[in-house]
Amino acid sequence: MAAPRTLLVTGGAGFIGSNFIRYMLAKYDYHVINLDKLTYAGNLDNLRDVEGDPRYRFVRGDVCDSAVVTELMAEADAVINFAAESHVDRSIEDPGVFIQTQVYGTFVLLEAARNASIDRFLHISTDEVYGHSLGDQRFTEDDPFKPRSPYAAAKAGGELQCHAIKETYGLPIVIARPANNIGPYQYPEKAIPLFVTNALDDEPLPLYGEGLQVRDRLYVDDHCAALDLLLHEGEIGEAYNISAGNERTNIDVAETILEMLEKPKSLIRFVEDRPGHDQRYAMSSKKLEALGWSPQHDFEAAMEKTVAWYRDNRDWWKKIKSGEYREYYERMYGQRLAGSKPFKG
Ligand code: NAD
Ligand code: DAU
Repeated sequence: MAAPRTLLVTGGAGFIGSNFIRYMLAKYDYHVINLDKLTYAGNLDNLRDVEGDPRYRFVRGDVCDSAVVTELMAEADAVINFAAESHVDRSIEDPGVFIQTQVYGTFVLLEAARNASIDRFLHISTDEVYGHSLGDQRFTEDDPFKPRSPYAAAKAGGELQCHAIKETYGLPIVIARPANNIGPYQYPEKAIPLFVTNALDDEPLPLYGEGLQVRDRLYVDDHCAALDLLLHEGEIGEAYNISAGNERTNIDVAETILEMLEKPKSLIRFVEDRPGHDQRYAMSSKKLEALGWSPQHDFEAAMEKTVAWYRDNRDWWKKIKSGEYREYYERMYGQRLAGSKPFKG
């Protein structure tokens, strides 16, 4: 009997990676090695329910460390690369580590992969590589890259290497470009878990600018289903947009959360905007849909599941919010909230 397939998942202790590992272990008889540095965003609590599974192994390590990457690559049949610094605001404060992980870390993984016998390298990029959509613009996979934040530029650098390595050495690369994910286990620096957990604590919801920027909210399980499909059936060398068509302004999102939790709209505060704030990300997912994928969660369903999870899992986020996070929150929002404008809806 052939040995079960082994997946090397990088960044699997973060938000999407942990949801993906849980999804794959439930669906397949695969083995999973999770290589994660455990930065502030990596959290072993995200995978408590699978840590005893004999098919799962956690390795603490950095994707920039070629010794550990080379060793694990020798055991892997396929790689799914989630490892990244993922928060745009932190990239504006301190871009260096974003370049290190997204650009150099991806290089190390690709070098090791081309010297091993992996059958697929699924790289998780982002819709932000296109820059923001203007007017009715909806990006397709052939649109040029115009990243507008240090985070997005670092992601573009990582992805571009994947294309070059595929062309030069024939490495079996597939690229995913997902929209904004929401769901369980998202670190509460990101807008939706931040708003939900603040609302649950009767704390203000800090909305950047006038709250009119638009994001397309993709439920994380729909994203995992798309990645599963790309891992097995994505065409080598191709990139695929993953978007759900759930576009809403940030103010709509904040109001929806407050309604779902029966909290007053007066918790909304308009604060100083993010520098270079992207107005809207909008993509067409027709190429992925042609492979048979469609999102199963519209905006309301995605929000209902997400809000309910944070309401029912206070211990998970209370632990995070009592640690390093407090210093981050004060630095990021202290001044802004002091100069904030109240909501007059
Ligand atoms: P996250 O910040 O929750 O998790 C990132 C994980 O990577 C953490 O566990 C962290 O410890 C790990 N990591 C960071 N640097 C590392 C390194 N040098 N070596 C090994 N591990 C390292 O991020 P997320 O939201 O789960 O995003 C996962 C991937 O998806 C990222 O590549 C991100 O750019 C991309 N993405 C995210 C979204 C989204 O909405 N969250 C949308 C599109 C694309
Ligand atoms: O689009 C995909 C990207 O989505 C991913 O590549 C990134 O890793 C991920 O972090 C996310 O980026 P965003 O910048 O869109 O997500 P964030 O949750 O930080 O912000 C969502 C929107 O909410 C954005 O318009 C900024 C706004 N915002 C954010 C925060 C943290 C606020 O108004 N107030 C806030 O406090």
